[in-house]
Amino acid sequence: MSSNGQSKTPEVVVVTGASAGVGRAIAREFGKHGASVGLLARGEDGLDAAVHEIERLGGRALAIPTDVADHEAVEAGAKRVEEEFGPIDVWVNNAMTTIFAPFHQISPEDYKRATEVTYLGYVWGTMAALRRMRPRNRGTIVQVASALAYRAIPLQSPYCGAKHAIRGFTDSIRSELIHDGIDVHLTAVNLPAVNTPQFDWCKSEMPNRAQPVPPIFQPEVIAEAVYFAAHARRREVTVGWPAVKAIWGNKFFPGLGDWYLARTGVDSQQTDEPNRSDSPSNLYEPVAGDHGAHGRFDERAEDWSAQSWLNMHRGWVAAGAVAGFVLAGALAQGKRR
Ligand SMILES: NC(=O)c1ccc[n+]([C@@H]2O[C@H](COP(=O)([O-])OP(=O)(O)OC[C@H]3O[C@@H](n4cnc5c(N)ncnc54)[C@H](OP(=O)(O)O)[C@@H]3O)[C@@H](O)[C@H]2O)c1
Repeated sequence: MSSNGQSKTPEVVVVTGASAGVGRAIAREFGKHGASVGLLARGEDGLDAAVHEIERLGGRALAIPTDVADHEAVEAGAKRVEEEFGPIDVWVNNAMTTIFAPFHQISPEDYKRATEVTYLGYVWGTMAALRRMRPRNRGTIVQVASALAYRAIPLQSPYCGAKHAIRGFTDSIRSELIHDGIDVHLTAVNLPAVNTPQFDWCKSEMPNRAQPVPPIFQPEVIAEAVYFAAHARRREVTVGWPAVKAIWGNKFFPGLGDWYLARTGVDSQQTDEPNRSDSPSNLYEPVAGDHGAHGRFDERAEDWSAQSWLNMHRGWVAAGAVAGFVLAGALAQGKRR
């Protein structure tokens, strides 16, 4: 496989949580590049729709209904993908669920389930991928992460806990791979707020409807960054200024962050519309129907990120800056003469 992921034999990729939201956009992005994509999620309507989209874009796809909290099912999914498409080149862990509620209102049972899906789902995915990649000494695992893996926010304790845990176990495994001289690459992509269906189907105990904390980006912005991260061999890729600010702000002023979020974080995660009493919840079962990649925030979501573009092209940006500097120096010297 060449460094940009183009190869004679199609790249073999697994995406968890590929039936909707960010995962659906990621799966499409790989499909656009001709990949063979194994799609792991539970909802069969979304999975089937994703297969058709990828095939239309020129890739191949296999829908494998899987609950990522079940490690045997994830292992069986990996096996199925390799039987159908060959050795897995890239594994993208992305599936998640959450509960929008203050910690004291969440039952132990719900907390456990959210953690099993959002944290252990990544652990089982990473295990299944490494079981295959380690002996071959090649492959890339992408952890779809979040600014909230660095800066936790109110009403999201199961999710933030899981995202922090993913960062911890990923760093641990990365060191083990380096120690063992294994050339499998582990990377994380830190996301900002994204316009996806999660805000309409994750369980909520809040009076008003959930929303991502603006500014909001479209899932396709993320999909491009994940495709880039799968081939760039960087340790982490952060998408959008809001995520950069949250991560760096928390490094220097974590206490200030606690106070700021105590004042703003509850309201900024809810709209003015009251929550519907019949709102679905995807915590234990998938929600029927095809929900696509986008949520209900198309009008407020940005389909480009200058920060992400600069980050993905930083070699060119640095070369341009050096060239500009040299040119300006030469002009100044010419004027002095
Ligand atoms: N949206 C944001 O603002 C945001 C911000 C930062 C980071 N992220 C990250 O982006 C990733 C995707 O989030 P999203 O917003 O796209 O979420 P989403 O819209 O809720 O989609 C979640 C996906 O995960 C799948 N899923 C849920 N429970 C599952 C289970 N038990 N087993 C298998 N699949 C399951 C869902 O499919 P089924 O229900 O069909 O199984 C769906 O395909 C997550 O890692 C999240 O942390 C999102």
